[in-house]
Amino acid sequence: YAIHEPHSSLSSLLVDAQGLQNQIDELSTFSDSPAPSVTRVLYTDKDVLARRYVKNLMGLAGLSVREDTVGNIFGRWDGNEPELAAVATGSHIDAIPYSGKYDGVVGVLGAIEAINVLKRSGFKPKRPLEIILFTSEEPTRFGIGCLGSRLLSGSESLANALSKATDSQNISFLDAARSAGYAKDVDDLSSVFLKKGTYSAFVELHIEQGPILEAEGISIGIVTAIAAPASLKVDFEGNGGHAGAVLMPNRNDAGLAAAELALAVEKHVLESGSIDTVGTVGILELHPGAINSIPSKAHIEIDTRDIDEERRNNVVEKIHQSAIRITETRGVKLSEFSIINQDPPALSSEAVIKAMETATRELNLTSKLMISRAYHDSLFMARVSPMGMIFIPCYKGYSHKPEEFASIQDMSNGVKVLALTLAKLSLE
Ligand code: GLV
Ligand code: MN
Ligand code: MN
Repeated sequence: YAIHEPHSSLSSLLVDAQGLQNQIDELSTFSDSPAPSVTRVLYTDKDVLARRYVKNLMGLAGLSVREDTVGNIFGRWDGNEPELAAVATGSHIDAIPYSGKYDGVVGVLGAIEAINVLKRSGFKPKRPLEIILFTSEEPTRFGIGCLGSRLLSGSESLANALSKATDSQNISFLDAARSAGYAKDVDDLSSVFLKKGTYSAFVELHIEQGPILEAEGISIGIVTAIAAPASLKVDFEGNGGHAGAVLMPNRNDAGLAAAELALAVEKHVLESGSIDTVGTVGILELHPGAINSIPSKAHIEIDTRDIDEERRNNVVEKIHQSAIRITETRGVKLSEFSIINQDPPALSSEAVIKAMETATRELNLTSKLMISRAYHDSLFMARVSPMGMIFIPCYKGYSHKPEEFASIQDMSNGVKVLALTLAKLSLE
């Protein structure tokens, strides 16, 4: 196959796939839960060690490394025209409790390997190439997903909210950041916002987290859009009391209110009539949490998503109505109903899609256009840069659990497509 002149040195892209696998295995040992699970939460000791590991690899790849106030990490390879807007790639290395070792990590360590591949081939970019390790793509600690990329995209409301936010242990965001070596003399998080035109393109490599590519035997997914996520926090307050002594007609059970709302979430999601609407209650906490005490307080967190924003908003509204109705029928109080985020979907850029498609074709890999049902930092990078995503197959579509797995061959294909796509975009 022919690669035209500027790419002639790229006809053989040599990926050190075993080296990449070894790095993924090593990074997975920075975990607060036993293998094969991974738990790596924002600004914990394990997160700090993992960040150090990645910064070291960036340095070994010859990148100049810089960090911002919240710990987004940037590794830069200046091109022949360093004043031009850079082409960026990257993902996250934080891991939700008891998850796997590939989510996000493939897009960070794979990006470093893609740079190594380009360097080995003798390629010289025109635009700078930059790898970004995003802070806290997962919402685990402070309840908000894509924290780093959301700030980079210029979210004033997040910058304001974070200066007051605390985690479940009542540690403030800024104290947590300081304990990890960030946010030293700063409490204004708007310093993180990217200047307009910083990047000419952003591409993220990620495992699919769904079953389609593996089932269809296709090597590469080219993402055209990312579904719209929303998350809600709800608190009910009832009276509580003795589990034996308070008779059923006299109860205002906050736990049952939460259980009823959880079932209402499922019902409203199914009422949309579309397979693309989903809803999950992943957190349900009862107070005081004793078998012989009627729950006096219940806290639930709800995640709902759709590729259609209006339909998703409709579900959020119905959940709110149900919460209010439950307070009436059960005699409990709705002490909190807050929408933590309600984000629009994002579309990939035509130009980035074309570069990914051309790269895939030149590498003789099979591909298919697909949407991302998971959210990614790319959802927010799309607000400040043309965006695209490369998906690789993963075992049975498993993700957010320890059984998550991607083969060396599939990762190697993904790294090649990423390298060639970055190369093309860097010459544009
Ligand atoms: C990202 O981890 C997501 O929940 O989609
Ligand atoms: Mn994830
Ligand atoms: Mn991810």
